Amino acid sequence: MADEVASHYGGAGDLAGAIADRLRQAGKDMDRLTTADLASVDEFHIRGRKATLELAASLNLDGNSRVLDIGSGLGGPARTLAETFFCHVTGIDLTQAFCDAATAMSGWVGLADRVDFRQGDATSLPFDDHAFDAAMTMHVAMNIAAKDRMYAEARRVLKPGGRFVAYDVLQGEGGEVIYPVPWAREPSISHLATPDAMASLLRDAGFRIVATEDSTEASQRWFEDMAARMAGSGPAVTFQTFLGADFATMARNQVANLRDRRIRTVSYVCEA
Ligand SMILES: C[S@@+](CC[C@H](N)C(=O)[O-])C[C@H]1O[C@@H](n2cnc3c(N)ncnc32)[C@H](O)[C@@H]1O
Repeated sequence: MADEVASHYGGAGDLAGAIADRLRQAGKDMDRLTTADLASVDEFHIRGRKATLELAASLNLDGNSRVLDIGSGLGGPARTLAETFFCHVTGIDLTQAFCDAATAMSGWVGLADRVDFRQGDATSLPFDDHAFDAAMTMHVAMNIAAKDRMYAEARRVLKPGGRFVAYDVLQGEGGEVIYPVPWAREPSISHLATPDAMASLLRDAGFRIVATEDSTEASQRWFEDMAARMAGSGPAVTFQTFLGADFATMARNQVANLRDRRIRTVSYVCEA
């Protein structure tokens, strides 16, 4: 199953090279690149960089914080946190091609010394107990059946009292998901929890839930805008760079999935 998930995301070969080509085509100067220039491709979750900054505000970060990003993708959220709070962020991700691209892209924007990325599985983290002050995971658990192990691992590596933010796509009440979607081209690698199951999973892992926010309406508007841009000339550098041409179909399906409440987006601020 892990191989199927990694090949869903990382099948496109040299991702950093492909993204650099797109950035140059969009007129970006590769010697003066900022994290904002990358945000349309490296913040790979609904509502993008805005959501990252909103959620990060709950993590109580400062310049001494060591933060773990579980399922770090291309590293956009890790770089956003490192740049904003001057903290150090470690990213772990199943997809080696994403880890390689995340490392290269961090060098492009001068953040290589404040982030690091390694390949690994969220259900078996290669870190000591209590190694991190805070942790986050955004749009990752949809690919993970063993969510009990994932959240138990997040709890294990956090210091007591440390904050954990989980922002994920959940199963809604409006019916079955319409595929393909950005995390799966068909149902075998999609494992959505319901909101009730999600709260139980987090509590059973030993977290206290401090706040919950359902952002489904804002997510619907965000994907409606994205689908409209895809139907026009499209943003120059987006998830299509690694998901391929069917991202346009995925975006249309996400509008329907969100509008029908087949899916919901919910974030949980937790304390270890
Ligand atoms: C939709 S992307 C989100 C990436 C990143 N969190 C972000 O918001 O930009 C989902 C990521 O989860 C990773 N992933 C899926 N299953 C995983 C697992 N079992 N362990 C670690 N990473 C996993 C994928 O490789 C992919 O990078």
